[in-house]
Amino acid sequence: MNLAVMGLQWGDEGKGKAIDYLAGDFDVVVRFQGGHNAGHTVCFKGQRVVLHLLPSGIFRPNIISVIGNGVVVNPLELVKEIKEVEHLGLLLENLVISAHAPLILPYHQLLDVIFEDSRYTKIGTTRRGIGPAYEDLSGRRAVFVGDLFDKDRFYRKIEPLNNYYNKLIQAFGGQEISIDSYIDDYLEAGRVLKPFAGHTAYLLNDFLAAHKSILFESAQGILLDINLGTYPFVTSSNPSVGGIFPGTGLSHKALDRVVGITKAYTTRVGEGPFPSELSGQAADFLRRKGNEYGATTGRPRRVGWLDLVALKYAIMVNGVDDIFLTKLDVLDDLDEIQVVTTYEVDGRMTPVFDPGIDYLDRVKPVLTPFPGWKQEIEHCRDYASLPGEARNYISFIEDFTGIKVKYISVGTDRDQTIQV
Ligand code: IMP
Repeated sequence: MNLAVMGLQWGDEGKGKAIDYLAGDFDVVVRFQGGHNAGHTVCFKGQRVVLHLLPSGIFRPNIISVIGNGVVVNPLELVKEIKEVEHLGLLLENLVISAHAPLILPYHQLLDVIFEDSRYTKIGTTRRGIGPAYEDLSGRRAVFVGDLFDKDRFYRKIEPLNNYYNKLIQAFGGQEISIDSYIDDYLEAGRVLKPFAGHTAYLLNDFLAAHKSILFESAQGILLDINLGTYPFVTSSNPSVGGIFPGTGLSHKALDRVVGITKAYTTRVGEGPFPSELSGQAADFLRRKGNEYGATTGRPRRVGWLDLVALKYAIMVNGVDDIFLTKLDVLDDLDEIQVVTTYEVDGRMTPVFDPGIDYLDRVKPVLTPFPGWKQEIEHCRDYASLPGEARNYISFIEDFTGIKVKYISVGTDRDQTIQV
């Protein structure tokens, strides 16, 4: 069986832990979109490790980890991450990187900062060059991982781009970038990456033909999807099921099931609408207890109640089969928990989540309260041992969405997971 693990909110749902937990049943784990804007946190030998580009199955021996052609790769960051993971004692002999993954180059990063700073409405990007790199892909000018393996070819491709972008950088009053300042580092990174590089579309299709099981690891979340998210406050890729196929070279026939991940509440980093957002003491509590600070940028995350209207939309557009509910233990101490069950828009009740910001700006969330369980649940290892109030909360989510909550995470460790 091949499974997609999709973020159902604005990212940071706990995909790293969920994928590390689920990966044991799979032969292959593949990333298909995003770049090092992602931060997937995995607990390994009691240590908290944040992965940005490497698939989260990397900690399990014998699993083949694939970075697909839909991922934008900063080769310097990838080499750094490979070295860090090797330092933890892991051998990366089962890592394969698509030679056709687009590169993030220094001018992408600078342009991300320049564009963001010059925007009237800020997006709050991670400033890693993700958007400008995907723009080059859509603009049919991208440079790829495989280009790093041939100095002349690499130079031939980056020279006109570098000149082009320097004009733009100059126009914005930025510091021009000389090719000499980075070419050697990029070629050196290419030498490190070359042994891992391959034609991943063929490789993945061969795995499929050989009946190997594949787990698709999304980065970010559906509400940040360039087509289906809260545009323009989105990332530049498709963290939706639809992103899997162009990002891997596998067809829809490769996907059997979709697990959607949601926190028991909601967070968002960066700007943009967030109907169930909290402020004040309640927000401070959730942020502190849930350690809600960006794994990539360290920025404090915005926090709010679980929004079931948005969740139902996320489930609908991804075709979710099962829910993986994370961070339920963060709600342990609360007297009362609330969830958004409908929206009031222009004086009318509606169950519709329209990701357009003009709509979301007019939304007033309508909340349903639940009594809290007021006890620790991190030791619970089966559904029956969860307090009744926690089970009620989960049942309500299931009834509202019509989807089973199959996995419940009650702590950061792999074994702090209940499978129902
Ligand atoms: P970009 O992906 O760096 O262009 O950022 C666009 C938006 O997506 C910003 O609001 C970021 O905070 C958000 N974002 C990007 N990657 C992640 C992630 O992995 N988790 C949460 N938010 C993200």
